[in-house]
Amino acid sequence: MEFPFDLAPVLGPERFCVVDQHLRPAGTAPLVSPRREQQLEQRLRTVIDELGKASAKAQGLSTPVTSAARMESNRHVLYMLRDTRPPRGAVLGFLKVGYKKLFLLDQDGSHVEVEPLCVLDFYVHESQQRRGLGRELFREMLQRERMAPQRLAVDRPSPKLLGFLDKHFGLCRPIPQVNNFVIFEGFFSTRTAPA
Ligand code: ACO
Repeated sequence: MEFPFDLAPVLGPERFCVVDQHLRPAGTAPLVSPRREQQLEQRLRTVIDELGKASAKAQGLSTPVTSAARMESNRHVLYMLRDTRPPRGAVLGFLKVGYKKLFLLDQDGSHVEVEPLCVLDFYVHESQQRRGLGRELFREMLQRERMAPQRLAVDRPSPKLLGFLDKHFGLCRPIPQVNNFVIFEGFFSTRTAPA
């Protein structure tokens, strides 16, 4: 996804850009003037809003799950994957995660209150899908969050995401839930497996 401005000053120089509620990507240059600061923040907002809209469209949702305003009011983390090539670069996709308190059913059907890391929104640009970029994003997130895939809860996974989780992480046996979240075998296991 391209934008009518250079993404490097907005998102930093790296292939991965990580943003939280403060909307300040790591690695962006120190700011020289309040006016420039305002401009870069506005551009970051545009990038996040447009990504959220594209993801919602891809999933057939009427309202985006991801926007700059929602990022500010939640403790979520947004991982963006970039094409850093000049002149302006592009955003290839994003993955949003966050901790949420949930009541989930374990294998025996008992309610358990937990606060897992949840996959909340995930999108790779249509022109870039099925090239391994989703896996690259997901693996980066698991590594930075120090998380094993079977410990995640997934909010309303699309059929594409279910196929993705099965293919790359062997997550194919869901534990049925009464809410929109999906968890997989191993979620409640006391043994920790590496990501
Ligand atoms: N149809 C079926 N499965 C697909 C498709 C597709 N069009 N695209 C990707 N997948 C799954 C398949 O398992 C595929 O393996 P295969 O090609 O051997 O069948 C695997 O993903 C490919 O892995 P990657 O290339 O690493 O994944 P990709 O870069 O395509 O990203 C993603 C996966 C993010 C799900 C992408 O397909 C996408 O953006 N889809 C549209 C939006 C969406 O459904 N997002 C998830 C919403 S639910 C949520 O976010 C909680």
